[in-house]
Amino acid sequence: MKHKEILVFGASGHIGRHLIRKLTKNNFKVTAAVRNFHRKAYILKTQGNPGYLDIVETNIYDLEAVNSLVKKADICINLVGILYETKNNTFENIHSSFPSVLAKLCHENNLDQLIHVSALGVEKALDSKYAKSKSNGEKLIKQNFLKSTILKPSIVYSVDDNFTTNFMTLLSILPAFPLYYNGKTKFNPIHVSDLTEIILQTINQKIYSNSIECCGPDTLTFKEIIQKLLNSIDKKRLLIPMPISLAKISAKMIETFMSKPLITVDQLNLLKYDNTPTGDFKTNFDFNINAEKKFEQEIEKYSYMWKDSGEYSKNNQINKL
Ligand SMILES: NC(=O)c1ccc[n+]([C@@H]2O[C@H](COP(=O)([O-])OP(=O)(O)OC[C@H]3O[C@@H](n4cnc5c(N)ncnc54)[C@H](OP(=O)(O)O)[C@@H]3O)[C@@H](O)[C@H]2O)c1
Repeated sequence: MKHKEILVFGASGHIGRHLIRKLTKNNFKVTAAVRNFHRKAYILKTQGNPGYLDIVETNIYDLEAVNSLVKKADICINLVGILYETKNNTFENIHSSFPSVLAKLCHENNLDQLIHVSALGVEKALDSKYAKSKSNGEKLIKQNFLKSTILKPSIVYSVDDNFTTNFMTLLSILPAFPLYYNGKTKFNPIHVSDLTEIILQTINQKIYSNSIECCGPDTLTFKEIIQKLLNSIDKKRLLIPMPISLAKISAKMIETFMSKPLITVDQLNLLKYDNTPTGDFKTNFDFNINAEKKFEQEIEKYSYMWKDSGEYSKNNQINKL
C-alpha cells in the first residue's frame, strides 16, 4: 500500500514537532519543510522512523521551491505563524499571503487536502493586526482551494511550548505579575497532543471545507491560568491588575528594546477578547474528536523544573531513615 505523502510547513515549531511524530507513527510519509536545517532539524530527526520522514530546507517566499514540494504531496499542512512582526516577516506576508499562495498551489496540483492552522476568535479582534491577518488568510484559503480545512485552536500548551514554560519561568523570577484586563479574559487551553489528534482525524475522516474551533475541556480565565501555574510550581506571587494604558506603554518599550518581545501592544489588543468557542463554527467536539487533557493535571507533569528543589521537593524522607 502506498503511504500518503504529507507536506508540513512550520514543521519545526511547537505544534509541528508533535504533529510529525503523530503522523509518522500513523504510517504517513512526512516531508517537513524548515527554513533552517541547522537550527531545528536535529530536533525533528528523531520524530519519525527511517523512511517516514524527510526534512527539507525551504524559503517560503520562493514560489518555485514551494511548488516543487507541493507537487509531490497528497496533503499539505500549514503551521507557519508569528506572534510579532520583523522586517520581511510581516503578519500580512506570513498569515495572509503565504497561505493564499499555498492554497492556489494545492489547487493547481490537485492535492487531496490542505489543513491550515489559524487561531480561535480572530474574526472578532478587529483591532489586532495579528488577528486581522489570520482572518484574512482564512478567507483567501477558502477562495483558492475548496478542499481546505481551517483549524482554529485556543492556546496550545505542552512541556515544550512557549506559553506555560515562559510563564513559569517569569513567575518563578518576578515577585509580582501583571494582570491585563483584570485577568478576566477566558481561554480553552488545548494540549498539543489533543490538537495533533484533531489534525490526524481531519485527515482520516476526510473533513473538507470546514472551519473547526479546537478547544480543550476547561474554560479558564487568564487569572485562573496564572494561579494554576503558581500552585503547580509551589510559589505565591502578587497578582496586580495593570491599567491597560500603562500596560500599552510598557509593551511599546518592550517591543522597542527586545528583539523577541515578551508582550506587544498588538497582543494586548488581542487579549481583550475571550478565546473560547464563538458559536459561529463547529468545534472538535461536534466531530466527536474529544480533547480530554486537563490543564491542571498536564502542567503538573512538567512544572517540577520550576520548583525550588526539583521534582521530589515535597517528599524527601531520606533523613528519616
Ligand atoms: N501555540 C499556540 O498557542 C497557538 C494558538 C493558536 C494558533 N496557533 C497557530 O498555530 C500555528 C503553529 O503554532 P506553533 O505554536 O507551532 O508556533 P511556533 O512554535 O512559533 O512555530 C511557528 C513555525 O512557523 C515557522 N516560521 C515562522 N516564520 C517563518 C518564516 N518566515 N519562514 C518559514 N517558517 C517560518 C517557524 O520556523 P522556525 O522554527 O524556523 O522559527 C516554526 O516552524 C501558527 O500559525 C500559530 O499562529 C498557535
